[in-house]
Amino acid sequence: MGLMLMLVLGAILTARDSVNCASQTQFLNELLDTYDVNESPHLREGRPTIINVQMFINSFGSLNAANMDFSIDVFLRQSWHDPRLVWPSVRERVAITSPEMLAKLWKPDTYFSNLKDGEIHQVPTPNVLFRIYKTGDVLYSMRTTLSLSCHMEFEEYPLDSQVCGVHVTSYANTDDLVKYQWLQDRPIDLPESLEIAQFDLLGVATSNTTYAYATGNFSGLLVYFNLRRQNGYHVLQTYVPTILIVSISWVSFWLDPNAVPGRITLGVTTLLTLTTLASGIRASLPPVSYVKAIDVWIGSCMIMVFSALVEFTIVNWLFNKKVIHRRQTFFKIPKSPSQPPDDAQASGDQVLTYAHQAQLIDRWSRLIFPAVFFIFNLAYWLCYLAAYM
Ligand SMILES: *[C@@H]1O[C@H](CO)[C@@H](O)[C@H](O)[C@H]1NC(C)=O
Repeated sequence: MGLMLMLVLGAILTARDSVNCASQTQFLNELLDTYDVNESPHLREGRPTIINVQMFINSFGSLNAANMDFSIDVFLRQSWHDPRLVWPSVRERVAITSPEMLAKLWKPDTYFSNLKDGEIHQVPTPNVLFRIYKTGDVLYSMRTTLSLSCHMEFEEYPLDSQVCGVHVTSYANTDDLVKYQWLQDRPIDLPESLEIAQFDLLGVATSNTTYAYATGNFSGLLVYFNLRRQNGYHVLQTYVPTILIVSISWVSFWLDPNAVPGRITLGVTTLLTLTTLASGIRASLPPVSYVKAIDVWIGSCMIMVFSALVEFTIVNWLFNKKVIHRRQTFFKIPKSPSQPPDDAQASGDQVLTYAHQAQLIDRWSRLIFPAVFFIFNLAYWLCYLAAYM
């Protein structure tokens, strides 16, 4: 008896489902006969259709400084109400998958005005969802990868922050037809484990805007990502090596003033190493005309190394310079014992060198050069870290 009842019930339910399916296709076909795809949903009521937008940031590519762009992979979700699609049904909603049917339904022509390149993923099937609720609400979601232009400032590079945005607007529907607004609840949805190469995401800001073009006024949306560059890489690859190079150039002050090959090699090698490092850094940046924080750093390090080389030139020159003083001069420097009591004495003159002064310069340089570099470091880090923090 019970089994019979279940069978009958099952048959009834199956029948109802098939009726629903039939009515779904029938309904959609009937609806699409009279549906005008070119007409925005609320045109007859004389008001714009409100498009609620939400973005789920699937992944955030790295910012490309050389091209001034960045890439994101987003689920762009748009929802609106279309009174023509109100549908008396037991089914809560229906998803439209057939491309022919999809083409017959009105959709906003949303685009990204700062887009450089982008695509809707097609593998294995187009990553598009079009869902109609029986209330006439529509959800249109798609997965796209966007490469967006972003104006970057490098004055504080590599201790910089960048603000990059996504500009959403409609291409053909003016603001009397379509109005965009961010979804009230979580307009930008970020996964908890969102990782951005080389950057930390400090914050996200959304706003509404209107673009006034020659073709009319267009409603638009903006979202800005506030990103701060991570510094581990640059500290390890730039700052620490250059500090070491500058320190190595000071070794010269401990060498003999006559050690020409040694001291010249030291100076020139450190200078060349710095140049190589600097060109490596330059390669990853656009050729901007202003001074960057890294330029200040590398420039100062080069001046330090260059000064050490100049110091050696002076020391070496002084050390070997022979001065002939007349006896009549008002001061007398005692002769060093190494100097032979020779013809100079005989002719009434003294042969002197500035060897002592040269050594004195070297001794003072051992102190002054590190001190100057330390003070420079203090000023540099205070100045740029204050802006960075
Ligand atoms: C666009 O907006 C401006 C200012 O809101 C207004 O003066 C102008 O008439 C609008 N243009 C069109 C074509 O609606």
